[in-house]
Amino acid sequence: MTLLSIDDYRLAFDGFEGTAHVLDGITLDVARGETLGIVGETGCGKSVLARSLLRLNPAPPARVVSGAIRFEGEDILAMPEAALRRLRGRRIAMVFQDPAAFLNPLLNIGTQMADVLQGQDSAGGARRRPAREVRARAAALLASVGLPEPERLLDARPHQLSGGMRQRVLIAMALAGEPSLLVADEPTTALDVTVQAQILALIAVLVAERGLTLMLISHDLGVIAASCARVAVMYAGTVVEDAPTATLLGTPRHPYTKGLLAALPDLDNPAHRPRGIPGSIPSLRQPPPGCRFHPRCPIATARCSVEKPLLREVGDAAPSEAALCDEINPMPRDLGRLASRDGKTAALHVGEEETASPRDLDSAALGGLETALPPQAPPPSHRVACHYA
Ligand SMILES: Nc1ncnc2c1ncn2[C@@H]1O[C@H](COP(=O)(O)OP(=O)(O)OP(=O)(O)O)[C@@H](O)[C@H]1O
Ligand code: SF4
Ligand SMILES: [Mg+2]
Repeated sequence: MTLLSIDDYRLAFDGFEGTAHVLDGITLDVARGETLGIVGETGCGKSVLARSLLRLNPAPPARVVSGAIRFEGEDILAMPEAALRRLRGRRIAMVFQDPAAFLNPLLNIGTQMADVLQGQDSAGGARRRPAREVRARAAALLASVGLPEPERLLDARPHQLSGGMRQRVLIAMALAGEPSLLVADEPTTALDVTVQAQILALIAVLVAERGLTLMLISHDLGVIAASCARVAVMYAGTVVEDAPTATLLGTPRHPYTKGLLAALPDLDNPAHRPRGIPGSIPSLRQPPPGCRFHPRCPIATARCSVEKPLLREVGDAAPSEAALCDEINPMPRDLGRLASRDGKTAALHVGEEETASPRDLDSAALGGLETALPPQAPPPSHRVACHYA
């Protein structure tokens, strides 16, 4: 059943130097219980898309040009403020990249969590809970994200916590409203690799235990492959490919996806030299006409610079033109291992990083991962926006 439906959504930012056409016709459905990764280069619009789900892009300068975003059938773009307040945190929650930027350094964790809990209660029209009850709920939330001694942590200030612990606090805050959809925008980018593995394991366990739908945003395909059953690849404000993770990694169709994979190192094959994608990301104020990727595409034709490719279904029976794209860039082999979305593979990946400091390590969560990951029926569709893929 579709939880979130984004339909031909276009968003622009108006500025003195012109209009930046940042999102250009995003069409994406997310089913309840799905784990969707969004991957793409810096500036391609991942965060703007995530913020759009909660209408958090400041308007102006943001301007919705067209389209609709529906959550459980309700159009978010048309929601009145009171409904938006109930949506934020209670139905869709977000975890951002930099925990330090979202925690007030002057207030202890307990006060900040109480603010969140009371804000959720008031948005939902619930009675104001006594302070003792709020504190107990905050401690329970901290415990649920694997933080030790939650009572003591409530009295700590953010600077007394490690980066991983701060990120866990933000995840606990995101869970406070018991949302259906968790949007995590680069939740591990600011963390070192061992803590990153723990946070990903924690998110996997929470998704499984709570039946959450997950939208995980990252520029790191490895992070997405370890955590998500499906991936949408974005380029310059458009979704260029959308497929089950194993399909995307095993048989990528879009030239940009192939370029992304070729840019990754192959640990099993030291002779493999990662290749960058030539050229640079285009200006969104004057995006290239036709296919936005055409100035960098190795197989572009004259058609590509005038005609925008539509995102269309491609099945197993590939059109013959697909061979044009398959000429380039074989996939680095080690990613195939991460791609198979069964519990064991994800646990193996996380297990490789298990040398973390015990303070941050949520061994219960890591141990439970193997059994906790739900078997996910991969969505049947594989969509590509390319005339020749
Ligand atoms: N408030 C704003 N005003 C004007 N332009 C903005 C605003 N927010 C984002 N943009 C522009 O929108 C584009 C997409 O930004 P966004 O932050 O979504 O990229 P991203 O894909 O999340 O990149 P990263 O991987 O670096 O986080 C960028 O060109 C950015 O400059
Ligand atoms: S439509 Fe396909 S072949 Fe043409 S430029 Fe875009 S990605 Fe390349
Ligand atoms: Mg971003």
